[in-house]
Amino acid sequence: AAIKNYQFDIGLQNVTRLCHTKSMLTVNGQFPGPTIYAREGDRVIVKVVNHAANNVTIHWHGIRQLQNPWADGPAYITQCPIQTNQSYVYDFTLVGQRGTLLWHAHISWLRATIYGPIIILPKFGVPYPFPKPYEEITIILGEWFNADIEAVISQALQTGAGPNISDAYTINGLPGPLYNCSKDTYKLKVKPGTTYLLRMINAALNDELFFSIANHKLTVVEVDALYVKPFTTDIILITPGQTTNVLLTTKPYVPSSSFLMAASPYNTGQGTFDNTTTAGILEYQSPLNNNKNLPLMRPILPGLNDTSFVANFSRRLRSLANFQYPANVPQTVDKKFYFTVGLGTSPCPKNQTCQGPNGTKFAASVNNESFVLPTSTSILQAYFFKQSKGVYTTDFPDNPPFPFNYTGTPPNNTFVDNSTKVKVLPFNTAVEVVLQDTSIQGVESHPLHLHGFNFFIVGQGFGNYNPNTDPSKFNLVDPVERNTAGVPSGGWVAVRFRADNPGVWFMHCHLDVHTSWGLKMVWIVLDGDLPSQKLLPPPYDLPKC
Ligand code: C2O
Repeated sequence: AAIKNYQFDIGLQNVTRLCHTKSMLTVNGQFPGPTIYAREGDRVIVKVVNHAANNVTIHWHGIRQLQNPWADGPAYITQCPIQTNQSYVYDFTLVGQRGTLLWHAHISWLRATIYGPIIILPKFGVPYPFPKPYEEITIILGEWFNADIEAVISQALQTGAGPNISDAYTINGLPGPLYNCSKDTYKLKVKPGTTYLLRMINAALNDELFFSIANHKLTVVEVDALYVKPFTTDIILITPGQTTNVLLTTKPYVPSSSFLMAASPYNTGQGTFDNTTTAGILEYQSPLNNNKNLPLMRPILPGLNDTSFVANFSRRLRSLANFQYPANVPQTVDKKFYFTVGLGTSPCPKNQTCQGPNGTKFAASVNNESFVLPTSTSILQAYFFKQSKGVYTTDFPDNPPFPFNYTGTPPNNTFVDNSTKVKVLPFNTAVEVVLQDTSIQGVESHPLHLHGFNFFIVGQGFGNYNPNTDPSKFNLVDPVERNTAGVPSGGWVAVRFRADNPGVWFMHCHLDVHTSWGLKMVWIVLDGDLPSQKLLPPPYDLPKC
């Protein structure tokens, strides 16, 4: 195994898109940021130097960080932020993981511009469980705001209204030809009759995205850095925080046109959304194809709220579950949880004008608890140094506080409880969590992301979860394993994982607006008996609050 050293310098850079130039935060002046390349088993050391006026942290989304949440990155959960002119070294080893992941800022909404790919190749000599591609291409989807990100955040947080929406989606940072005044288009040059591996990443702030390439099929082979049983589709759905590797085999004959690849949003929420389409060009390289005025074929993408496409797509995802890549699904469960996830409101603070329903402030919660981040320390430091008093309590509820028909008409008084409650799990607990979307402020799909683990998606459905009949339909053989699960709009998803990674681990909706409204919670996994089952001590340069 090798050691991969990187330095990330965070600072302002002028970037122009859609004829707007703005000074925005980037890593090493790049947008999207640099790619981390490594192999399974490598040690990755990234020195993050903050030259910006903002506090920052970086999260390595999907990296398990075994015994080592100190390198995980969510601000005030596992570390205090890196302040201006300070640095912090993220040092972690890639144990038993290979595939496509992403890194991003994990404080406020800074991941709007601070994000990039992580590519972990298999160990030397270990082939992919699918035909070797001729070339590997990374496609990272994102959002572009003409406005300053700070202004977008405060608009969403101070007024308690929905956020200003983005002005464009982007493919590798570029909006593409379907926007006004867009001069930048991503172009993928391909040879005929050749197989490519596309490493797709959704780094958008607030939108799940459909992606398709006109007149071409995609074969899904991996999600969230875990191999799946290959299947072929015209369109994929990818939520923020998710990654999807697909094989693209180009047409054997010289085509008579160029093809657009495009991404557009999936959204069932009530507010206003950026319902635009970003596009790039798939261009065949061929001496016979030198006519620059060829017609562009456009892919057909599902509608904004096509939940049935999403449900069918996610049902097709299955773990490879073979001898070499087994699916270690917990067959029995030690602890069951039922969590409602969704929106809600809280009373408007005295000094504010709130634009939520009836003058209230928008909020979001898990089991009606709207998680409030500490400010003077991180949860992990408070836990490790046994100074939890005044920082967090351990009474996070196992079940919703007041049952109702979660996808029917919600009760009237649904103010959330603002709290900092965590759930403590003994080491190696086999956990089942049913995540139930609620209809408070409307049903909506939530991509729930768990740090430190991958979970198996053993079941999903619409309406209210029925604990008497639904478990008999669970797939405990080859359920898809991933780090970000879509909770169906107006439905539920059941996930299982084994709490075999000691430390403090964040779980939250990966739509940043919902995270900041409180749709987040924390698991603390206690140490086991063996040295390899204990939380490591913090590095000496851990930032101070
Ligand atoms: Cu990719 Cu806690 O996030």
